[in-house]
Amino acid sequence: MKKLPIHQYLPHASELVYGCMGLGGSWNKDPLTQKDFMQAHQVIEHVLDSQINFFDHADIYQFGKAEQVFGKVLKENPSLRENMIIQSKCGIRFEDKSGPARYDLSGEWICESTNNILARLNTEYLDVLVLHRPDPLMDPEEIAQAFADLKASGKVKYFGLSNMHISQAAYLAQAIEQPLIVNQLELSLTNLNWLEEGVFAGNPDGSHVNFTSGTLEYARRNDMQIQSWGSLSQGLFSGKDISKEPIGIQRTAEYIKTLADVYNTSPESIVLAWLLRHPSAVQPVIGSTNIQRISACKQALAIKLTREQWYQIYILARGAKLP
Ligand SMILES: NC(=O)c1ccc[n+]([C@@H]2O[C@H](COP(=O)([O-])OP(=O)(O)OC[C@H]3O[C@@H](n4cnc5c(N)ncnc54)[C@H](OP(=O)(O)O)[C@@H]3O)[C@@H](O)[C@H]2O)c1
Repeated sequence: MKKLPIHQYLPHASELVYGCMGLGGSWNKDPLTQKDFMQAHQVIEHVLDSQINFFDHADIYQFGKAEQVFGKVLKENPSLRENMIIQSKCGIRFEDKSGPARYDLSGEWICESTNNILARLNTEYLDVLVLHRPDPLMDPEEIAQAFADLKASGKVKYFGLSNMHISQAAYLAQAIEQPLIVNQLELSLTNLNWLEEGVFAGNPDGSHVNFTSGTLEYARRNDMQIQSWGSLSQGLFSGKDISKEPIGIQRTAEYIKTLADVYNTSPESIVLAWLLRHPSAVQPVIGSTNIQRISACKQALAIKLTREQWYQIYILARGAKLP
């Protein structure tokens, strides 16, 4: 198994993370159905059988139903828990009677959310609690206290971040006693800003790029695991109907299919192998609820693209030669 930064803390973590956002029906407040439960059960067992033991949640997914259905599976099969690493996120709040949709990284909300997450998931502890998005009102000392309390109570083992840039990560890290072991960011072939930021360094043509310089390098230097969300680009390069998509997407998908044939593998695995080839040691989060697609993703771990293949995919996806 490839050595990842996260192995320093969680030595048995799988190289892929299963993203649970698609479990629990859909984004509404309808109650969970037996069909939702059956789907979650089948997916969880398949993910574990595929040697993926890392599960990514958030308190908001499907208005809490993703965690709820996962917790129902755990309640009926408690022995599954010991083979799982469970991560969840907090800090995004829906509009409610006290205010608009907002971010909330106050100590009080972090602790309240964690209690609710644990209750929904039917588990005594989280392996990793992640702050979902930066909150302009976040106070590092207050977060540090909340993390210290959650750690001392045994409710959370490790802590991490999501969608935070280098300065936010460093700002929080200097106040928080526990290591921040994860930063989960949108990195994919359809959101290339994480690469464009580097290749356009000092070039005014790159002024449109929105990714904060140094974020990946900071993570690497500080043993912070980069996890990528949106890794599969919602299937755009691996079988989704793209006949109405721009020509650049179609050409990229064609080349990925050609490479999949060369390697005798799936297009999903080429898409993920492209992320895995990057030296920041990305741990992709895969969000498919389709059993065949989950198996197809797993094949990525056996593929190492050449430098030339990696660049060909990148150039096709960005739709222009490198500057
Ligand atoms: N930290 C954050 O802010 C953040 C934000 C978003 C997501 N996440 C995490 O990242 C995970 C993955 O994110 P994601 O779902 O946005 O990205 P993704 O993994 O790129 O895409 C998964 C979605 O694409 C669909 N899909 C994949 N291949 C397909 C194909 N060939 N044809 C049709 N549909 C296809 C899947 O449908 P099927 O289920 O039918 O395969 C699923 O809805 C989530 O589950 C969540 O854990 C984190």
